[in-house]
This record gives sequence, C-alpha cells and structure tokens, in this order.
Amino acid sequence: PAYTEPLRPQIHFSPREHWMNDPNGLVYFEGEYHLFFQFNPQGDTPGHISWGHAVSKDLLHWQELPVAIPAIAGDQNELVFTGSVVVDDENSSRLCANNKPCLVAIYTAHHDKSGTETENREAQALAVSQDRGRTWQRFAGNPVLDVGLPEFRDPSVSWSEENHAWLMAVSLPNEHQVAFFTSPNLKQWSRLSTFGPAGITNQHNPKAQWECPDLLHIPADSGKGPGTWALKVGMNPGSPQGGSGEQYFLGNFDGRTFTPSTLPGAHGWTDYGKDSYCAISYNNLPQTEQPTLIGWMDNWQYADKLPTIPWRGQMTLPRRVTWLTDSAGQSLKQDPVVAPLRIGKPTDISRTLKPDQALTLPSLTVPAELTLNIQPNNAQTTGLRLYSDFDHYTEIAYNLTTHQLYTDRTHSLEAATAPPDFLARTEAPTAPTRPYDLHIILDRSSIEVFAQDGTIAMTTLVLPSTTKLRVELFTRGNTQPTQITGKSWQLQPIW
Ligand code: FRU
Repeated sequence: PAYTEPLRPQIHFSPREHWMNDPNGLVYFEGEYHLFFQFNPQGDTPGHISWGHAVSKDLLHWQELPVAIPAIAGDQNELVFTGSVVVDDENSSRLCANNKPCLVAIYTAHHDKSGTETENREAQALAVSQDRGRTWQRFAGNPVLDVGLPEFRDPSVSWSEENHAWLMAVSLPNEHQVAFFTSPNLKQWSRLSTFGPAGITNQHNPKAQWECPDLLHIPADSGKGPGTWALKVGMNPGSPQGGSGEQYFLGNFDGRTFTPSTLPGAHGWTDYGKDSYCAISYNNLPQTEQPTLIGWMDNWQYADKLPTIPWRGQMTLPRRVTWLTDSAGQSLKQDPVVAPLRIGKPTDISRTLKPDQALTLPSLTVPAELTLNIQPNNAQTTGLRLYSDFDHYTEIAYNLTTHQLYTDRTHSLEAATAPPDFLARTEAPTAPTRPYDLHIILDRSSIEVFAQDGTIAMTTLVLPSTTKLRVELFTRGNTQPTQITGKSWQLQPIW
C-alpha cells in the first residue's frame, strides 16, 4: 500500500511520488478544499514545473488527482510557476461557460531563456476550469500582465470588498517589493501601489529575493473588535534562519496601499523554524474559517537532497490565523487544524521537575500531539527532548535567560548523513508576559511547534524517522521546582 514508507508523512500532504514545492491556488469551492502545488511529474528535483492537484473535504484527508496545468516543453516553453485560483462567481472574466461560476487560475508563466532570448521572462497568465478544477484550458489572450521583467512572479489574487474588484499582490523578487494591481475582469490589470523594500531584504545574502506575497485580512483573536491587515512575503536565500523563510508586516490596507504599522510586534516571522515557506491563504472560505494558511514544509537549502524518494516535499498542516494584541504588543497568532485527528482520550503527562531533573514519559508513537504548560519558576532552560534512538534527539525548549524559544536538531542525525545546512538550531524571541506553552505536532519526518499563545510557530523537518519516540522533560539551572501540566494524543493517519 502507498504512504507507508518510514519517512512518509502520516498527517501531512505529500505527493505519491516526485518533486513538490509551493502550495498554489488554495480555494474552497462547492464543498471541496483544493490544494494545487508546484510539481514535477517527471522527477524528484525541480524541473518541468506544473501544477499538481489534490482535494479534501476537511483540509486534512487529501486525495491526489492528475496534474491540473502541465508545463509546456520545447520552443514555446512555459513552466507553470506559483499563483492562485479564484471563484469567478459573476463571470467577470467572461470565461465561465453558460454563465455558471467557474475557477480561474492566475499563475506565473515562466519562460527559460532559449536560443534567441538571453534572459528568462516571467508574466502572469490565466487558465480556466469549468469542471471543479479537474481540467484546465489556458486563456488564449495570455499573458494578462507582463511588465517586461525577467523576474516578476507569484500572483496572489483575491476579491477586494473595498474596491469591488480583483486585487493582486505580486512579487518583484530582486527589488524586494510587492506590487498591488487591480482588475475588473482578471484580464486587464492596473497598478495600484508598491510596498517595500522593508524589513529584511538582502542583509544576510546579496542574492536574497522576495517571493510568494500574500495579503491577509485577519480577525481579532478575541472575536471582538476590529481586524487588521497582514502582508506576508517569502525570502530566499538569506532568511535569518538560513535559506528560505517568511516575514510578515501588520498594518493597514486602504484598497490601494499597504501601510505597515510601527507598533511593537508589527514585524515578525510567520515561522521561526527552517521548514515553512511560501504559505498562502485560501480563497472563498466560509467566513468563520478565514484566513487559513498552508505552507511548503521545506527549505530550498536542502529540499532536493532529502532522502525521501519516491516523493520529495510535504505541506504544513493548515493554520488558522488571527490577530492578538496584549501587553507585549501585537502579533500574528496561528492555530493548526489537527483536533479532528485525535484518537480517544489524551494521556496526562503533567510532572513536577526537581532542580536539574530530566524525566522520561511513556513512549509516543507518531503521529502524535503534545500540549504543555510550563511554570518555569526560576529555571534557566526548560523543555523537552524527543529521542529517536539512544544517541539522537531533537530538543525544544525555552531559555528564560536569553528569552528565546528554540528547536535544536543538531543532534538529530550524524553529520555524515545529514543534508547540507540541515543540522541547525532555530530561535524565536519570547515575551515574559506571554504563557510558556508548547503545542507540538509530531509526524514521521516533521515537528511543528506553536508557542506563547500561538504567537510563535516553529517548523522543523527531522530525519530519520521519528516513528517511536522517547520523550524526556527537562529543567536546568533551577533551585525551585518546574511545574509542567500537559497532555498527549495519538493521532489518526490521514491515508
Ligand atoms: C518559491 C518559488 C516561487 C516560484 C516557484 C517555482 O519557492 O521560487 O517564487 O514561483 O518557487 O517553483
């Protein structure tokens, strides 16, 4: 049977075989959640990039379908790069047959330099589906937006209530900018404004590019009060964690221009681990589920070297996003969709740790989920270790002295067998006024951590398999006990 390999994700989407990167065209339509993705139907490394396709009724159980939009080889070469899908409810594009709502994909047509051309070209193009995303026709008038640049990509299109028109956020990778365009019909686009450079650009690597922008309207966490806007944008290479990463800006969007807030917490990273990239949000979701992000759980530094053949690449869990404001400032808050997979009752893993104590919990079989609330008292460092065997472990802990949460996988694998840049430790700043909690989701080759009330997400791939884990809670540097209350669940595989 498929999906049984030792490293195969059990609760995350991965293609049956071959290479996958960014999620594309996330859209909810007629009872189905669609997940399109950057896919090479011919091999295990990037190439012949097409849109793969999967559907789900609950955002957790996926069924992979045939390639949706194939690359075109040869002289007319076109790679189908990242983009989005919208539901054209009112047939604004005049591309929907019989005036019925249809799906329109807006993707980047990437043309590699060929004999006559000395530079690559990127422009935005359309494809249409009249049959719930099963088959697609390219629009005869492509491209619909071409500014004559070799790099200009990853259109994120949604319906703008403010403008009563379509809105596109699209990346100018080398300029470290996001451009906003508007259109009445998805075919003619006019420029509204440009955001950036801002935040981190190429301080860490001169080759750094901005990719995969997404503009989100986020409701307040309390369920009360106004929402806010967030602009998230990927960067590769040169993110502070190494390789690819994503920052966000909270602020205001007035229908034309995004203005970042200057309040504390207005700039941050959607994920402080190494392995979440090019997350985008769903279009057309029921109001109560908005917004929901899915990202590529990987890093360009080593994505094409992971020993997971016959597939390469997996997605994060879906994450619901809200906006939190507290005494430490404002923040994005992320909450993974996972509870429907819990099996039976949780196990109580509450413990009180004496000074410098480490305590072993009952072993876990992944997929599994842990929730911990830590009262560190005067501990210096406290958290847990996940041992895959006697010598190899990943450590997740709060350092109360440096005010950081970290995930350290430097001891998870022998250096000789680790992919390049894999043996790393990533850190996130913590706020002493926020709770020291940990929500950890363990799959066979990944660890997703949500901490401090969901204001920190930290996603880390792990190799080799973590099928059976010894879990050790620890505390260091304390004279008073560290109190941990917690639960663990076994999770139901999705395949
Ligand atoms: C980001 C990215 C996008 C591009 C796609 C190509 O991971 O580089 O900018 O559209 O991948 O597969």
